[in-house]
Order: sequence, then structure tokens, then C-alpha cells
Amino acid sequence: MGDLARFNLIGTSHAFLAAMAAVEKFAASDLAVLVYGETGTGKELVTRAIHYLSARRDGPFISVNCGALPETLVECELFGHARGAFTDAREARPGLVAQANGGTLFLDEIEAMNARAQVSLLRFLEDKEYRPIGASAVQCADVRIIGTSNADLKAMVRSGQFRSDLLFRLNVLALHLPPLRERDGDVGVLAETFLERLNRRSAEPPKVFHPDTLDFMHGYGWPGNVRELENLVAREFILASDSMVKITNVDWPRAVARAAQGDAMTFGNFKAAKARAVADFERSYIQALLAKSRGNLSLASRMSGKDRSDLGKLLRKHGIERRDFN
Ligand SMILES: Nc1ncnc2c1ncn2[C@@H]1O[C@H](COP(=O)(O)OP(=O)(O)OP(=O)(O)O)[C@@H](O)[C@H]1O
Ligand SMILES: [Mg+2]
Repeated sequence: MGDLARFNLIGTSHAFLAAMAAVEKFAASDLAVLVYGETGTGKELVTRAIHYLSARRDGPFISVNCGALPETLVECELFGHARGAFTDAREARPGLVAQANGGTLFLDEIEAMNARAQVSLLRFLEDKEYRPIGASAVQCADVRIIGTSNADLKAMVRSGQFRSDLLFRLNVLALHLPPLRERDGDVGVLAETFLERLNRRSAEPPKVFHPDTLDFMHGYGWPGNVRELENLVAREFILASDSMVKITNVDWPRAVARAAQGDAMTFGNFKAAKARAVADFERSYIQALLAKSRGNLSLASRMSGKDRSDLGKLLRKHGIERRDFN
């Protein structure tokens, strides 16, 4: 565990420590890794930890957010293109795979890769070979792939959106980061650590949490997970009028907006960005609602003013299990 503290990975719960044990084991291997987890659970932090603990630590760490790129550009970004591959391709351009040679390529939101890019990635995983767009010769690179996803990739395989052979290949080393609400005791440990960090950087007398704060934190569902907790502590630290930091509720719309911000604000296509923001909102809302109603659908329906059957549809859409909240 000592090693992992270097990467700011904090937690003492059984669920968290089990995930960290896997991180250390995966770092010792050179196979592809797939990191699953809700937004804000630390997927990126963990990916960096795996790279910097691995034998590739002195090689490059290159990251790309597949979800933030237009679908058709992902393949080009990854594998590059030859001169003249398209009208304005006056020069050949190497892709990220070439840049990551000797190191790790981090494919964030891997579920956003389109069918063509998936084929190319599979080939690359199998043979270490790829062909830049428009190039006649194949090239080689020695790159470890680490992907992240907060989608249900198995469901995407069933619906034909994700290749099963690619998933098999990536899933050999799969790491599930538990949501914060399933990490017993970690909310308190993390909150204290974030507060301590803020105190250290502040010239003012140290602040402490108001006793009601921890009660609230334990009862809350944390749909935005560690990121939401970190942001909330930072905000209330600044807003606190005396040495007591008191958090007893969450400003919902803003909290959700913050959790979804990373995705929604990043890029271009309005429709895609909006769909993602809406999906993020739905997921966060439903998770918080179920956490509050302890998985009781009738209660959840009353609290939200939504039909039970509509709620059921949303649960299925996002692959959320009601019994996880009992
Ligand atoms: N175990 C942890 N200890 C301390 N800080 C953490 C931990 N996990 C996550 N964080 C912090 O929470 C924030 C979100 O983490 P990260 O970006 O890795 O999440 P993510 O799973 O990649 O989220 P998203 O799916 O939204 O991209 C970061 O500021 C990170 O430093
Ligand atoms: Mg991330």
C-alpha cells in the first residue's frame, strides 16, 4: 500500500484495498487492462498508477479521451495517417500509438470507439501492428493499452456496438473500481485527507469539520464519487465563515452539473455532448435516488415523482441494480 500512497490513492475499505491489490498485480504484468467504474471513482488515477508502477514507467504515458473525439477521428488520432491520405493531408502524421512506443496508451471512454477503430485496435493488440490511414505498409509499436469505461461493455457486445473479440482481449485484466458509497468508511478518510490538504495550503488557522458533516456524508449517495466529495470539500472550505466546515446538504443541480462537466464541456458535436450529459444526469440522479430510498422503488417513485415503470426503464438503460442499494 505504501507505494500507492505516492499516487494519492487513498482509502482503507475492503473494497478499495482489494482493487488496489489488483492494481499492484496488474502493474507487474504487461497485458492490456480495462478499468471500469462510475464517474469520479479514480479510473484515471489508477491508470497512471499502473503505468508508473510498471516496467514501462520510464516510457511515455499518452492519453486520449475517445469520447471527446468525433467518432471518425479516433482511428486517425490513434494510428496516424500517410501523406495524401485525404485532401488536406499534406504531410504524414504519426498517431498516438507511435508516440506511446515503449510506454502506455491510455484509452479513456473506450466504449466510444467506432467499429473501424475497434478492428484496428484489435489487430494492434494481437500483432503489435497497425497501418496508418492511407499508408501501404504496416508499422510496429510496443505499447501497452489501458482502457477505461463506465459503460456496460457486455451489454454493448450483445447489442452489436462493441466487438466481442476486442472485449475478450481487453477484459483479461479487468479492474472494477467500486463506487464511493460501497467503500465502507472511505468517505470519512477521504474527506479528512482533502481537508488536511487544504489546511496545509492555507495561511489561515486550520479548519475542522462540523460534527453534522460526517453524518451527512455517510448518508449521502455520492453519485459523482470521489471527485464530487473532493470538489464539495474544496468549495465548503472556501465558503466556511469560521473554522468549522459544515456540509449538510448538496446543491443538486450544481453537483450534477459539476460531475457531468468533464464530459459535456469537452467537445464539439452538440447532440452527442447533450446526450452524454443527459445520460450522466440520469445515471447520477437514479443512483442518488436509490441510495436515498435504499433501493425501494415505491419510495423512489414517490420521492422523484416518476412512475415506477419509468424508473425501471432507466435502471435497465444504465445497467443499475436495485439490490445494490438495499
Ligand atoms: N482513492 C482516491 N484517493 C484520493 N483521490 C482520489 C481517489 N480516487 C479519485 N480521486 C480523485 O478524484 C478525482 C476523480 O478521479 P479520476 O479523474 O481518476 O476519476 P475517473 O474515474 O477517471 O472519472 P471520469 O469517469 O469522470 O473520468 C481526481 O481529482 C482524483 O485525484
Ligand atoms: Mg477519467
